[in-house]
Amino acid sequence: MKHESSPPLLHHHLRYSSRRISSLAKPVVYFLCLLLAYSLGYLSSSTRNNNNNINNDKLPPAVHVNAVVCRTANTVISSGFTEADHNNFGAVCGEAVPPQDVRSKIMERVFKGTSPWENFPPPHVDNFLRKKWVKGWGSKGAVFENLIRRVRPKTIIEVGTFLGASALHMVDLTRKLGLDDTQIICIDDFRGWPGFSDHPRMKDMKMVNGDVLLMYQFMQNVVQANATESVVYMPFSSGSALEKLCEWGVFGELIEVDAGHDFHSAWSDINRAFKLLKPGSEGGVIFGHDYFTAADNRGVRRAVNLFARVYNLTVQIDGQHWVFHIANRL
Ligand SMILES: C[S@@+](CC[C@H](N)C(=O)[O-])C[C@H]1O[C@@H](n2cnc3c(N)ncnc32)[C@H](O)[C@@H]1O
Ligand SMILES: *[C@@H]1O[C@H](CO)[C@@H](O)[C@H](O)[C@H]1NC(C)=O
Ligand SMILES: *[C@@H]1O[C@H](CO)[C@@H](O)[C@H](O)[C@H]1NC(C)=O
Repeated sequence: MKHESSPPLLHHHLRYSSRRISSLAKPVVYFLCLLLAYSLGYLSSSTRNNNNNINNDKLPPAVHVNAVVCRTANTVISSGFTEADHNNFGAVCGEAVPPQDVRSKIMERVFKGTSPWENFPPPHVDNFLRKKWVKGWGSKGAVFENLIRRVRPKTIIEVGTFLGASALHMVDLTRKLGLDDTQIICIDDFRGWPGFSDHPRMKDMKMVNGDVLLMYQFMQNVVQANATESVVYMPFSSGSALEKLCEWGVFGELIEVDAGHDFHSAWSDINRAFKLLKPGSEGGVIFGHDYFTAADNRGVRRAVNLFARVYNLTVQIDGQHWVFHIANRL
């Protein structure tokens, strides 16, 4: 597997920052930083010792200088931070909700127990929706069928749903494979991206008070596919939705990551989604689009490769998609 060499992020950052300081000023800035760091560390350690709040004598001295930030003409130099912080998305999720209760858990926590499809569509958008309008990117790739056949998931989590093309394709597949109870949790803020309705394929998108109506058109598409019982959604940013699923103990055996495609969005989504992966007897899979498309170098491929390196995983490729298979841990 081809791995790109990503530079250690922290070092890269420091190198970049220090290049901005003129060679004359550099020693002076470092000296001031050290002096400041030392005095802050000294002060905070003696204050805490006096108050006896924290059992300080067990902590190494470096802990007192958590993060000293010196700013000089766009320069930030920080300490007390390691690369491990960059990879740390917390590890503990709530106790697992049984698959048959996943839908009601989300209905209860996100929608106060009432189906969002009740009295749908609301009058203010009714005239703007099309009967069915499903567009996506690689949303019907063979990877979906390959993975659903293999994993036979009870819960699928999709991060990045748009109009529901890939989600509804997965509904079709679960029906075809007799997985009638499978729930698909769709996470999307349903905003697309700023100015996305200028996209040639989206130019007919209607807007109401600046709202591009993606969520309503997605809901309408789900109605047209008779899939309101198989699909549940969370109309929030991927970070907050995934963290809540973790807290509520909602896990999936199959997780698709296809939201923000810049490195940092992909990195964060993959890490948070990975915490929600609960391999069943057939193992579990996390996968996503744009490993091999024109968009790949925006960051998805780099994020996937870095993740593989940190967690010792092998990136598998299926069409344009990246795939991590995780064996049943039991
Ligand atoms: C490429 S589209 C998803 C396509 C879909 N998987 C398909 O194949 O039909 C990406 C989606 O991610 C959503 N998105 C981007 N960043 C997001 C974020 N931070 N939180 C939630 N959704 C986000 C956008 O609104 C957009 O609908
Ligand atoms: C949805 O259900 C209706 C009524 O039962 C049926 O006519 C239609 O073909 C179904 N559509 C799909 C996509 O299954
Ligand atoms: C990955 O493998 C290395 C070397 O074998 C090991 O030190 C490290 O703990 C592993 N990391 C994870 C997350 O399993």
